[in-house]
Amino acid sequence: MTSADDWEERARQALDPVYYDYFAGGAGDESALRANRRAFARRRLLPRVLRGAEPRDLAVDLPGAPGTCPILVSPTAFHKLAHPEGELATARAAAAAGCVLTSGMAATVSIADVAAAARGVDPEAAVWFQLYLQPEPAVTDCLARRAADAGCTALVVTVDSPVFGRHGRDRRHGFHELPDGLACENMRDLPGGSAGGPRDIAMSPLLSWDDLDRLRDNTELPIVVKGILHPGDARLAAEHGAAAVMVSNHGGRQLDAAPATLDVLPAVADALDRRIPALLDGGVRHGADVAIALATGAAAVGVGRPVLWGLAADGEKGVRDVLERLRDDLDHTLALCGGRELADLTADLVTTGGPS
Ligand code: FNR
Repeated sequence: MTSADDWEERARQALDPVYYDYFAGGAGDESALRANRRAFARRRLLPRVLRGAEPRDLAVDLPGAPGTCPILVSPTAFHKLAHPEGELATARAAAAAGCVLTSGMAATVSIADVAAAARGVDPEAAVWFQLYLQPEPAVTDCLARRAADAGCTALVVTVDSPVFGRHGRDRRHGFHELPDGLACENMRDLPGGSAGGPRDIAMSPLLSWDDLDRLRDNTELPIVVKGILHPGDARLAAEHGAAAVMVSNHGGRQLDAAPATLDVLPAVADALDRRIPALLDGGVRHGADVAIALATGAAAVGVGRPVLWGLAADGEKGVRDVLERLRDDLDHTLALCGGRELADLTADLVTTGGPS
């Protein structure tokens, strides 16, 4: 097993085609999904030489996760569709690999059990909790409190989903409910919270920055705002007290005409002007992709589908392999670029051809 593509192929063989398509698919014509990968494919790394590329250090400080690895697990829904151990396997693997796990509101295991599984492997493991601001503020507060009680060290608030993206593959399969025995465990006992299916998670197009302020005032946890593409929104997130933003187009699952995340990263990073870190996800598959994203202005990257492929193909072991290989590949790429630490990955190393 050598690359993310190999893992995807193994997962495709292991999964019911309905669930493979749920994980793999995007919105509309899937053009945003393709754009994420193409943006990486367009870039090359321009290496430096004779700089002494050892010893290397891949540590980065993120909200609630000091000295962590720059590769995070992005939140994805319903891991038990991929493997019977679901998010428990993902949590153990992320902790073993030393990567921050972002567990989603739409998980098939409660956040308390997910966090306990991660800490069973590493008592210091950092777990973040992703949520959507709920139409009923008391429900949002309850989710945030449960995350804090579970020992999560940050909240990731996803803001790119005022309405759901239209996923053609799910429509074709008629997939809109979880199979018997699976539920959205963080939501099932909350007022207005449904045990859920892929289209059932409550959100509201009426939400605004005021709702983010409310949550910020009601939690001690740092907030990462996920789903930022416009530099103006990055600025607003910083002004509204976010601890970081995640540049994300939801893996191409929301606005199909959205740009590739890598393409908007420089403008977002400029707008933030180092006040808070920019994270990025979407299309990260290789160590060189991580290096390109970091050199383009990201403090860290998230991976969504690769984790699901590892999970579907080989459970905890598969996820751990995906994450460890990605980190090892980043380390190798850093060495080949003549770097020792992440700060050595500077913008001048990224090119679309020769030196600019
Ligand atoms: C997601 N993503 C997502 N994001 C989020 O904030 N909450 C969620 O519940 C989900 N659910 C979800 C399910 C599935 C099946 C996928 C593939 C993605 C988006 C996810 O966090 C991330 O932004 C993308 O997956 C990143 O792109 P890659 O790494 O999959 O290319």
